[in-house]
Amino acid sequence: MSEPLLHRFNLLERIVHWVVGVTYVALLLTGLAFAYPPLFWLTAPLGGGAMARVLHPYIGALFGVAMLLMLVLWIRDMFLNRQDVQWMAAVRYYATHQRDKVPPAGKYNAGQKLFFWVQGVLAVVFVATGVMLWFPEQLAPARTLLSSARLLHYTATLGGGLFLVLHVYLGTVAYPGTARSMIDGKVTRQWARLHHPRWHAEQTGLTDT
Ligand code: HEM
Repeated sequence: MSEPLLHRFNLLERIVHWVVGVTYVALLLTGLAFAYPPLFWLTAPLGGGAMARVLHPYIGALFGVAMLLMLVLWIRDMFLNRQDVQWMAAVRYYATHQRDKVPPAGKYNAGQKLFFWVQGVLAVVFVATGVMLWFPEQLAPARTLLSSARLLHYTATLGGGLFLVLHVYLGTVAYPGTARSMIDGKVTRQWARLHHPRWHAEQTGLTDT
């Protein structure tokens, strides 16, 4: 008989994460289309360029609210500690599957915690600069302020997009068994022992890591 699964994310956490994920991807694709005309076809799923232009800021507002909720839900587990610093120093062993040389991670490893903080800070930048571009007359009347906001909006988006590609790759292709934690909220004990041994021990009371 297979071992019982461990519960990793509740329904609210999964819904909030997927609202963040879907809105972020929609913003990235429409933003790319606005910035680079050969990619204009990317606006087709939203009904074409004019509709995408109208919807982009509203999707951004939804992203901002969902991101804030995600920060509130997860912040408690995201503070870095001494073990995280040791984990970072051994990250090459994690990447090359030499797990005996990697300090045991808790619910999140140091890379996941850093991703959380980076995306959190970038979200503040996207949303703040996005609101300035949405209401330029009121919020960015000076031309230099508006062009700085635009430049920041684009660079933060590109940076966040690159981290997102890595995040999706790690959560799907690189580490099989991870994606289901965001689908039905559960993971196998074997997965937890391998990737998050300290969390596995906390959940099961077993320390055979
Ligand atoms: C769009 C496709 C996305 C996919 C397929 C995806 C996948 C996942 C998966 C499978 C997990 C669970 C990892 C675990 O159990 O340890 C996760 C966690 C997380 N996701 Fe996503 N995600 C996506 C988008 C996003 C976006 C846009 C953000 C933020 C801007 C984000 C932020 C996070 C954070 C902070 C965590 C917790 C820490 C971590 O695992 O890195 N995700 N995601």
